[in-house]
Formats: sequence, C-alpha cells, structure tokens
Amino acid sequence: MSLVAAGSLLRVLVARAVFPDIIDALRDIADVETTPDDAISSPEALRRRMADKHGAFITGSERIDAALLDACPLLKVVSTMTVGVDHIDLAACRARGVTVTHAPDVLTETTADFGFALLLAAARRIGDAERYLRAGQWTKWSVDLFAGADVHGATLGIVGMGRIGQAIARRAVHGFGMRVLYHNRSPLQPAVAQALHATYCDLSTLLRDSHHVLLALPYSPAAYHLIGAAQLAQMRRGATLVNIARGGVVDEAALAQALHSGHLGAAGLDVFEGEPAVNPVLLSAPRLVLTPHIASSSLPTRRAMAQLAVDNLRAVLQGRAPLTPVQG
Ligand code: DGY
Repeated sequence: MSLVAAGSLLRVLVARAVFPDIIDALRDIADVETTPDDAISSPEALRRRMADKHGAFITGSERIDAALLDACPLLKVVSTMTVGVDHIDLAACRARGVTVTHAPDVLTETTADFGFALLLAAARRIGDAERYLRAGQWTKWSVDLFAGADVHGATLGIVGMGRIGQAIARRAVHGFGMRVLYHNRSPLQPAVAQALHATYCDLSTLLRDSHHVLLALPYSPAAYHLIGAAQLAQMRRGATLVNIARGGVVDEAALAQALHSGHLGAAGLDVFEGEPAVNPVLLSAPRLVLTPHIASSSLPTRRAMAQLAVDNLRAVLQGRAPLTPVQG
C-alpha cells in the first residue's frame, strides 16, 4: 500500500551528498531533495527541510529528536546509513509511528579491519614514527627506536561483542594468535564463544588482564565515560586502548592524562566526544593515533551502506517491510 494518494508524489530528503547514482533509485517513487554541497544542516534548517517530507536519508551527523519530529507530520521513515543509532531518539520515533532503519552487517568486516589497523598503528607507534621520518629526524638506527608493544600472541580485551567485536576477535585469534577476552551486556551463546575462542569476563577483569583493549560497543547513556580515570588505572601498565565505538565512551581528559603519565602505552581513537571537534588535550597527548571517524570508510562499504539505506527507504515508502529496521 502506497503512503500517498494516487497522483501525489512522495517527498524524500537526502540530508548529505551521497553517491548520486545510488540516490537516483529513489526518483521513480519520490521527489528527492538532495544536498549537493554536502553542507550539514543546522537543527532549524533540518526541521525546515524535513517539514514536508515522507522519508529522510540521513548520516550520523543529523540528529533526529522529538522537536524535529513534531515539525514533520508527514514523516514515515528515517533511514540512516550508519549502524549506530545514537543520533536518533528511537522512543520519540516510535511514539509518532516513524519507522527507523539502519545499516548493519554491510560494514562489519571493513570496520573490523580498521579497528585492527588502529590497534597495530597505536601499539607499534606507526603515526609517531612516520611523523619523525617525514620531519627529517631519522639520522641513525638505534636499538629502541619507536619500540612498541607486540600485538601477536598478546591478550586482547574486546568491550562490546556484537558483529564488529566478533569480526575483530576472528582476526585476533586466527590472524595474530591472540587470546581474546570479552565483555558484553550478555555472554555469547557457548558455541559462538567457543568458535571465536573468546572468554567472557567482567569489565575489571578484562581491563586488568588485557595487553590491548578495544571498544566496539553500541553507544547508550549507560556507556557514557565507561572508561574513565578509575578504569584506565585498572589497565596494565603499557597497555593499548582503541576506541571505534563512540567518543562518549571514553573520558578523553583522563585518557590524555594516562598517556602523559606513561601508565598507558598507546591509544588509538577514531571517534570523539564532540566530533568533528577534537578536545585539544588529545592533540598534545603522546603515543596517540587519531583518525576522523573513518572505520567503515572503504568505497565499496560506504556504497553498500548507502544502498542499504536507499533500499530501506524504498521498502517503507512502498508499504513493504524494511530490510534492516532498528529493533526495540
Ligand atoms: C556507524 O555506522 O555507526 C559508524 O560509526 C559510522 O558512523
């Protein structure tokens, strides 16, 4: 069943500039307003642009809250090309009958590759070493030049053992001979944990026993500053912390302090609490690799994420079940 009367056209907003050839697949069912300049709409502008729309294609940069929804009486579906949905007020959408879809699975392996790359780059000090070489500072070989921590054979603690956490565990165990500990809302099915050679433990045990800790949990208010000064102090001296979850999970000031003091060996962050702004305390912290939220950014994967978001929009606007609705 179509959502509008015969003869009238559905209207969709595509809030950012994304692959025009993929977006074109919406044009046979809807009038599509695009954002060719890729500008990020202010909350007021987004409200104005979405006010007469039936569907919205968004990224992680657009915030969907009750005030916006109240200004969009025709809205039926919000389709985000991200897997994370912390930028969307799900309860407010549910209360107004707005379907929310996201883009799981298609980014899992690419994101896991990047998590591992960040771990390797941080533990082996690749960022610092490259800057040193480019700055012309390499004048002689020395025995401990950028001596980092080993990744192979070490213990990796994964916080958040969803699809991405599990994909990282596979790389760790089968590629790098690592021992994997994990902490999650609930333990995996025994057969799944066994196949991954992963051992469930509480957060304190994981922090205490891991050489490297990788955060891959979905963000919720309960995860705010899950890793603060007390948790960093529980980590082994010289350990590595990698965050590919959301910036709010880590207390950035405490992290910078743990790097300055030498307690933490290294860290890698792809996500930041106020992104795209980056807390200046991080910019001056030593042994820290920083990347601009690109864990899922390979071209094939970003295209697959956009395609899934379009497929979800089409399904809901045509009265079919979405492929990947947000559950709960
Ligand atoms: C996601 O899909 O949630 C990634 O973090 C990209 O925003």
